[in-house]
Amino acid sequence: MSKILVTGGCGFIGSHTIVDLIENGFEVISVDNNSNSTTDVLSGIEQITGKSITNYNYDLKDFAQTESLFINHPDIVGIIHFAAFKAVGESVAKPNEYFENNLFSLINLLKCVKQYNVPYFVFSSSCTVYGNPDHIPVTEFTPTKPAESPYGATKQMGERIIQDFTFTENAHAILLRYFNPVGSHPTTIIGELPLGKPLNLVPVITQTAIGKLPEMQVFGSDYPTRDGSCIRDYIHVCDIAHAHTLALQYLINNKQKSKCDIFNLGSGNGVTVFEAINTFEAISGVKLNYKVSPRRAGDVISIYANNELAVKELGWEIKYDITEMMRTAWNWELKLAEKK
Ligand code: WQD
Repeated sequence: MSKILVTGGCGFIGSHTIVDLIENGFEVISVDNNSNSTTDVLSGIEQITGKSITNYNYDLKDFAQTESLFINHPDIVGIIHFAAFKAVGESVAKPNEYFENNLFSLINLLKCVKQYNVPYFVFSSSCTVYGNPDHIPVTEFTPTKPAESPYGATKQMGERIIQDFTFTENAHAILLRYFNPVGSHPTTIIGELPLGKPLNLVPVITQTAIGKLPEMQVFGSDYPTRDGSCIRDYIHVCDIAHAHTLALQYLINNKQKSKCDIFNLGSGNGVTVFEAINTFEAISGVKLNYKVSPRRAGDVISIYANNELAVKELGWEIKYDITEMMRTAWNWELKLAEKK
């Protein structure tokens, strides 16, 4: 059974990916310093999979702690690297913390990949590397433009660091460019747990609907789009999770076309903020209390994916549409409310 190290395994996408990896026969260990997550999710993973997951509460900026993972687990064959700060708006306010955290942790991991001959490395990248694209949908060959935020810059730099690393070292890597991951596991045992006030649209919608937030804002209705609000490519977290399993299997089966292949992980559908709100209201029966506010700094006007490469090369099949994304997100919010 191949052992995979998942960094950020207590996070939203990390936890859902661990479930998918286990269901597909991988052995998994997690490292997460819980700076933006809690270990509560580990019991949920065990409830779904029947497997107990060890999480090492280490800071990947500490090389000695990072290296100890590989000394104690010489049989790690792959790493999926999620652990990073990821709030676009927060990164504008704290650029230095973002560069230090996201890049130092990556470089420490790559030092260990080299020192301990880890063959496979899958990187959690982002559609933010495209900046404000001139043409949509974007393909993996769409030229990247200056990132709109320090967060996006750390993903652009991370991709370059990994590409140059694989050029000289033995390891093979895959860069997975997520669009907007949303929703929760269909069992409603695990889901998105934003610590503090949520920043992303879907948790803001569900928390407004359940009454945790008195109202929500739509950041701008004067964009040059079909209804004036921004367009994004929402993709279910379980579809994103399964793409990671497929990416590892792609590497293990030597299907890669280069030392560092890139894939867009998006649904291929652009949805406006108002359309997302309308879809949520339709499945929940809840009228959302929102007001239109000024545009949010750093927001891209419109972006969605051409995902044909991931579908063709990884065999990726998307299972959830925007209605199901909203339904699982709402079911999760309702479950959280029951626990209170
Ligand atoms: C989506 C749309 C907002 C909140 C995210 C992640 C980033 C990356 C890409 C993975 C925008 C609008 C939001 C609100 C609103 N993912 N909005 N009111 O900015 O696309 O970035 O996906 O790496 O990590 O942050 O996502 O959900 O914040 O915004 O109107 O209260 O919803 O303006 O148009 P974004 P988001």
